[in-house]
This record gives sequence, C-alpha cells and structure tokens, in this order.
Amino acid sequence: MEERLGNRRTERVSAVQICELVGRAKEQLRLVYAPYSRFHVAAALLCKDGTVYTGCNVENASYPAGNCAERTAVFKAVSEGKREFSCIVIMGGSLGKVESYCPPCGICRQVLREFCRPSEFQVILAKSEEDYQVFSLEELLPESFGPEFLNETS
Ligand code: THU
Repeated sequence: MEERLGNRRTERVSAVQICELVGRAKEQLRLVYAPYSRFHVAAALLCKDGTVYTGCNVENASYPAGNCAERTAVFKAVSEGKREFSCIVIMGGSLGKVESYCPPCGICRQVLREFCRPSEFQVILAKSEEDYQVFSLEELLPESFGPEFLNETS
C-alpha cells in the first residue's frame, strides 16, 4: 500500500513482507548469545532496496560490551553499504519464548533514528507472523535528535 504523508510518498510494508521478516527473525532467534540475561531478542531489518539484514543480541562477560539485536542488524547493514531502511521486525522473550511484544531499548531507537525519517520508518513488534503491532519510529521516539541538527548552515 502507498500513502502520502505531507509531500512524500511512503511505502507501507505489506502483511506479506512482515510475514517474511518475522520468519527471518525467528530463524535468527536460534543464534542469540545471551548466557547472562537469557533474554533472547532477534531483529530483521528491511532495506529500501529489498534486502534484509538480521541481528540478535550478543552478550559479553563484561556486561556493557554486549549488543542488542536491533543494533546488530543496523550495524551489519550499514557496514555492507546500506543506509536506507523501511522497517524493522523485533521479537524476543526469556529463553527465546516469545510471549509478549519486545519493544526496542532507547539506545536502539536512537541508532535507528540516524538512518531514517521517524514518521516513515516502521517498527514492528511481533509475537508471530499473525500477531504484531506496528509503530512509526516517531511514536516510539518523539521530538528526536538526528543528523540534520548538525548540518545547519546558518
Ligand atoms: N535487548 C535487545 O537485544 N534489544 C532491546 O531493544 C532490548 C534488550 C537485549 C540486550 C540484552 O542482551 C538482553 O536483551 C537483556 O536486556
């Protein structure tokens, strides 16, 4: 589906795409490394060119050195030359049992903000292929700070 937001054309991610992304995130859940929290999180990030980057949380014996699933996905994508994203599917739960929606932490919201228009980028919190909630990043991170604040010429 396509809709107009202001002057821009925005692509709505379809239910079929979401279904595929949930499938990819589910596969990714098997690769989580979370021996300390035992809380397993996986993400599937859809690039505007149609490619998908997955990520999982990777913990560390030095706790702050661990990384969240969403940031793993973003960093994988950006390090492969991708900077334009449509949406991210996130799912997780204790020991990989997905019983509730898993919202992204504040740091991950800010990292996503770097590479998208907050009103257009969709964050999909999934329990399954059929059960998910869709938010814009703007809803999850209102009045946000982004790269354009550092590019003012005046
Ligand atoms: N975690 C994520 O991967 N994404 C989030 O947005 C929330 C938290 C991970 C980090 C840590 O490995 C575990 O969940 C418990 O906080």
